[in-house]
Amino acid sequence: MCEDELIPPQADMTEQEWLRAGSAAAGTPPVPTTGRAVQWVNRRTLLGGAMAGAALAVLPSQAQSPAAAATRPGVPGAFPFPEHPDGKGEFAILVTGDAGTGDEAQYAVAAAARDVCRAEGIGLAVGLGDNIYENGPESDHDSEFQDKFEKPNNGIDVPWLMVLGNHDCSGLIPGSGGDPSRGDREVSYAKTSKRWYMPGRYYSVPLPAAEPLVEFFAIDTIPWSSYVAQLDPYYRWDGPYMREQRSWLDGALPASRARWKVVLSHHPYLNNGKHGSAGSYDGFEIGNYTSGVHLKDMYEKVVCGRADLILSGHDHTLQILEPTARTGGTRQVVCGASAKTEDGKAHFTHPAAWQNFSDHGFMVLKVSGARLTIDAYTVDVATRKATLRHRARQTRPVAAPAGAHA
Ligand SMILES: [Fe+2]
Repeated sequence: MCEDELIPPQADMTEQEWLRAGSAAAGTPPVPTTGRAVQWVNRRTLLGGAMAGAALAVLPSQAQSPAAAATRPGVPGAFPFPEHPDGKGEFAILVTGDAGTGDEAQYAVAAAARDVCRAEGIGLAVGLGDNIYENGPESDHDSEFQDKFEKPNNGIDVPWLMVLGNHDCSGLIPGSGGDPSRGDREVSYAKTSKRWYMPGRYYSVPLPAAEPLVEFFAIDTIPWSSYVAQLDPYYRWDGPYMREQRSWLDGALPASRARWKVVLSHHPYLNNGKHGSAGSYDGFEIGNYTSGVHLKDMYEKVVCGRADLILSGHDHTLQILEPTARTGGTRQVVCGASAKTEDGKAHFTHPAAWQNFSDHGFMVLKVSGARLTIDAYTVDVATRKATLRHRARQTRPVAAPAGAHA
């Protein structure tokens, strides 16, 4: 069991309530509130949480306003966004997720990806959250940025579109998502990194900027799907931050002039892995937070039928799900196996073009005027070699770009 695979004993507990419940249980697993087994926070995790709690006392209670941006900030030597497709008429994008452990598996997957990036002419990369395990960075210049991002990805010298994960925004309990303000440190770090691109907690990047072929929309799913209730009113599920983000995405997707639209998020809409899908994460179907019910609502009303792809992590698996009537033609992809793996089996039955629940890996997205192509690779950690396991293609955009003639 991975230490980040924490599930609260009941939905919408605060971190304090969760920890008190754990103390009262004195090591005895809590009684599940659903039919599924409940995992419990272990001793080492609690020690880590206590250290994070000390830092929590000095954190600001409010985050900066969100930003949407399409150009690189003025970081000296920052790797530029590709301005033109490659010789094959494509933009090639590396997709990784849940990578920030700093352990051998992360370095092995990155090494294998580096070889593929050179062969495929990768011009851009994506990190789908949980960028810095276990609690996110302790400062804007935490050495973890080096050990868990810059060093392993050395040689993949392109802009990385980074998304916030629950581990990047955790408070007392690692992975809880209970302190979204910690994500601001990752936004600040982008101001000094040549690779790490995060101009705000959510943002969009059209590619190329002048006449976009594809536009990426990076969103923050954490306050809608944290394992604990948000105490800061700013980050409540119905607070100003999430209302503003939803309003922004609701306007930005249909306003995009790009042929292809890709949403980048940590928590998936649909998921055959053990964490399950939005609205019923980890077996919870009640509560404003743990279940992800408000994220489900947002996906269904704002994203489905408007975006071609949702690229997500959180589950440490590789899944290329099929577009369906339920999704309005939008395809869900899960790519969260860039440092960790899962239990080797599917837990749900959403239609899948291909899926893998046991191997490390990454994906490459190729975008041209004619098609989207998703290449799924698994990686053998011992040899640091990647194997192409599946290629999925789609040729019809889900929605016409803004300004297109009917
Ligand atoms: Fe996660």
